[in-house]
Amino acid sequence: MVEFQEKCRVASIDQMASDVYRLTVHAPLIAAAAHPGQFVMVRVADRYDPLLRRPFSIHQQSSGGTLGLLFKTIGKGTNILAAVTVGDSLDLIGPLGRGFDLERERPVCIIGGGMGIAPLCFLARQLLLSDRQPEMDHVLLGARNREELSPLVDDFIDLGYPVQTATDDGSMGQHGYIPDLLDAVLPAVSRVYTCGPHPMMKIIVEKCRQADVSCQVSLETHMACGLGACLGCTVPGADGKYVHVCRQGPVFYGGEVAW
Ligand SMILES: Cc1cc2nc3c(=O)[nH]c(=O)nc-3n(C[C@H](O)[C@H](O)[C@H](O)COP(=O)(O)OP(=O)(O)OC[C@H]3O[C@@H](n4cnc5c(N)ncnc54)[C@H](O)[C@@H]3O)c2cc1C
Ligand code: FES
Repeated sequence: MVEFQEKCRVASIDQMASDVYRLTVHAPLIAAAAHPGQFVMVRVADRYDPLLRRPFSIHQQSSGGTLGLLFKTIGKGTNILAAVTVGDSLDLIGPLGRGFDLERERPVCIIGGGMGIAPLCFLARQLLLSDRQPEMDHVLLGARNREELSPLVDDFIDLGYPVQTATDDGSMGQHGYIPDLLDAVLPAVSRVYTCGPHPMMKIIVEKCRQADVSCQVSLETHMACGLGACLGCTVPGADGKYVHVCRQGPVFYGGEVAW
């Protein structure tokens, strides 16, 4: 596994919704090695509080050496990150963890909920490098409301993917839960990729199991080190042993995890 620690200059920071930001940094080493589903550990400030780095999925990557992160402000670290300005320097370690296995030929379904959509943008872009037609795939995206969801939907539409949406308040797409949209799609796909709230992924894994469709999930847990050293990120595996989400994941096959 190739990992780097890089001092990264902030290239842009855009507010996408009241509490959602897209941050782009120059990180040529990490960007060149990044695979969809991997993440970075970000030192959000050059001081001891907060001491721990924060994990973020790689949301975008360019051959020009930039990395994009998409994040929601929920606490101290993310609020500090939201206040960075162009030209600031951030210390990143990455790319970390195991990413998605790319299905290069057969139709897939990409399902994202809330900030779980972040790594799926990078995945959607990389899938297209194998000369596939995005029209054969399905993208199902859900979030709290239109304000949060709309800019993220545009990323997939710009790539040519057909997108179906659902929101908690009904302000965009179907009113309700994103897994409800999966039933009609499952017979037509050979792989499901998902990232989002745990209960959503649990339902999706079970639907895929019943339909005998391969499913990869990206898990989010608390992470102190992101490097396999602290045991802070362990979850029970299907075989009764604990797995490190930071090293053995964050992407797992649905059947590898005890739900
Ligand atoms: C592999 C991985 C990838 C991630 N990718 C993204 C991403 O792309 N975009 C994004 O917005 N967030 C992502 N996260 C979550 C992100 O790391 C947390 O939101 C962030 O660390 C919160 O830091 P904070 O200092 O703002 O919040 P804190 O002050 O540390 O915590 C605020 C509150 O949020 C809770 N909390 C913090 N982290 C988590 C977590 N991981 N799961 C559940 N509850 C939590 C705390 O218990 C506390 O109640 C990812 C997490 C992991 C493990
Ligand atoms: S976060 Fe420390 S072992 Fe995974």
